[in-house]
Amino acid sequence: MNAPAPTSSLTEEDQLFRLLRQLDLTPEASQRVIAGALGISLGRLNALLRGAAAAGLVSITERAGPDRRQRFTYAITTRGAGEKNRLTDRFLARKFAEFDALHAELTGSTSGLVPLNTRSHFMQNNLAPIPELYVSYDSAQKLKVEAGNLTSHDLTPRQICDLELLMNGGFNPLKGFLSEADYDSVVETMRLTDGTLWPMPITLDVTEKFADTIEIGQDIALRDQEGVILATMTVTDKWVPNKAREAEKVFGADDSAHPAVNYLHNTAGAVYLGGPITGIQQPIHYDFRGRRDTPNEMRSRFRKLGWRKVVAFQTRNPLHRAHQELTFRAARESQANLLIHPVVGMTKPGDVDHFTRVRCYEAVLDKYPQSTTTMSLLNLAMRMAGPREAVWHGLIRKNHGCTHFIVGRDHAGPGKNSAGEDFYGPYDAQDLFREHQEEMGIEMVDFKHMVYVQERAQYEAMDEIEDKDNITILNISGTELRRRLQEGLEIPDWFSFPEVVEELRKTKPPRSQQGFTVFFTGFSGSGKSTIANALMVKLMEMGGRPVTLLDGDIVRKNLSSELGFSKEHRDLNIRRIGYVASEITKNGGIAICAPIAPYATTRRAVREEIEQFGAFIEVHVATSLEECERRDRKGLYKLAREGKIKEFTGISDPYDVPQNPELSVDTEGQEVDNCAHQVILKLESMGLIAGA
Ligand code: PPS
Repeated sequence: MNAPAPTSSLTEEDQLFRLLRQLDLTPEASQRVIAGALGISLGRLNALLRGAAAAGLVSITERAGPDRRQRFTYAITTRGAGEKNRLTDRFLARKFAEFDALHAELTGSTSGLVPLNTRSHFMQNNLAPIPELYVSYDSAQKLKVEAGNLTSHDLTPRQICDLELLMNGGFNPLKGFLSEADYDSVVETMRLTDGTLWPMPITLDVTEKFADTIEIGQDIALRDQEGVILATMTVTDKWVPNKAREAEKVFGADDSAHPAVNYLHNTAGAVYLGGPITGIQQPIHYDFRGRRDTPNEMRSRFRKLGWRKVVAFQTRNPLHRAHQELTFRAARESQANLLIHPVVGMTKPGDVDHFTRVRCYEAVLDKYPQSTTTMSLLNLAMRMAGPREAVWHGLIRKNHGCTHFIVGRDHAGPGKNSAGEDFYGPYDAQDLFREHQEEMGIEMVDFKHMVYVQERAQYEAMDEIEDKDNITILNISGTELRRRLQEGLEIPDWFSFPEVVEELRKTKPPRSQQGFTVFFTGFSGSGKSTIANALMVKLMEMGGRPVTLLDGDIVRKNLSSELGFSKEHRDLNIRRIGYVASEITKNGGIAICAPIAPYATTRRAVREEIEQFGAFIEVHVATSLEECERRDRKGLYKLAREGKIKEFTGISDPYDVPQNPELSVDTEGQEVDNCAHQVILKLESMGLIAGA
């Protein structure tokens, strides 16, 4: 241990900082040991401890025993850990300012290292350790027990990703979920209130019900989905965000075709909580453990390898030959080593799952020179925010010790908006990155569009080819690749590596062998069940895949017997059906669902859940309400009109007519058999059932 610094010149604040740091490292040490480490008298220590305990920064426990000098033990509290992080920043900020002043005195110019207000990150070079938000192992054991008594919030999968990067420094300089003022500032100006560049609002969204139980100033425990406490947070802010504004400013449009806008409106809670985080433990991952690295682990790997320049390649897709060529070029151009840094947290709905991708990356890694290339997995939850996302990705890579970052055409693009147009221009991300790269301290390597030149049997950058008219340029788009995989067609060797194609084929068999869900929706008595039954029999006759029918009435008997017809209960019912159907689809079966499912948002959520694994075919059984009521096969409409059944769909409860179903069938004047056949034809046209 270093010799204690002389204390006479230290301010109260510095002494408190040193005390908290010491208690974090050695909780339960005796007063004598602590006083020795701090280089202060027992009397001074006593006063410091009393003050810190009164402020809730230190806990004091009495323990039994004969030795009166060992009567009390001291440990840092959650709040104390937060304060320690804050004081660390301030301490460093002051030291930087002192250094800067000295530099100016000696050289006549400033060092350029003066941080903005209290931020410590400016001093970072790419190899020095970066601040984390974890307390020491010993303190974590104590805090975990204490945190057991706190009000708990169960983190969503996206929040777990965010928390991991907050705690391990991936989101440095953030010290917790954003406060309201920082949130407003980030949304409006891409900067924290102290002026630091930060493009993405990292917020803790919760339900109104949960928020009502929380007071400002309260500490809460943050748990993963199994209930393990990962961190605590001191709630400093609680507010209802203007989500439409957030969507407009951060994602460019309040349009639910954007995955993050859809998440914002339909998944995220209505209230945001903000406050500093005290990290207790990392989220647990059982998959690819050896391939996951914190920013400090990356930095130490680069230190060990002597890599002073590192260019990072961000990806959410499998790597093919064009990517290999472009990453080689990027490394050559920037004369840097290469970090392949794929995202394995949350990517765009519909992407190849990360298990398959990592197996693909591992296969490709052999094709790179081992001495200059490495790979690490990043547990980031992407937002697909194009330009802002590119800047965010750059800052995250900077935190991971990289000096260069590859930004491609349409970086982190979310696809088309609801009018069928791109959300962002193809080079908006590069432009925004370029504008800020100096301040960010990481340099952009812009992505060249690589194409295959058949005559020369090699990949070349499109914009560098001069004899375009005399050569054959080959290219396979992402959509074309998916089509070929879906239809089991050839994927040429010039496009990808055989090992990658093999992996992709394993998880993505041709569509005619994949699972899928047919989801009927319509009024009670519209004919959903009858058509669904006919369809089931026809599919069973064809054979090849197991078929399960989740009919409204059957589900209500077996899965949802306790539920009624309130909005909440209907949603729960449909989500249960969606969950079962997604499992069936994932495992290669056919699920046929036939509930009323009156709400569009719930149907959309179910679609998203299922489309991760296979096709979702929404069939609107569009029999009119008048016709359903005229038929009144169960006599329910009559009872509903008489007010004897409440909340009856179409009579006293709403039905959102599907806007873009894959198919709409009307049973009026049509045989059931014909309706079922229309579905079969649709499935055939989508490649889900193979022709004879
Ligand atoms: S929902 O809204 O999707 O959860 O409904 P679902 O599970 O499909 O259940 C619909 C069947 O329940 C009967 N029933 C009612 N339907 C609508 N509104 C009210 N209040 C209601 N009360 C009972 C009705 O028989 C529905 O069956 P189907 O097969 O649709 O005719």
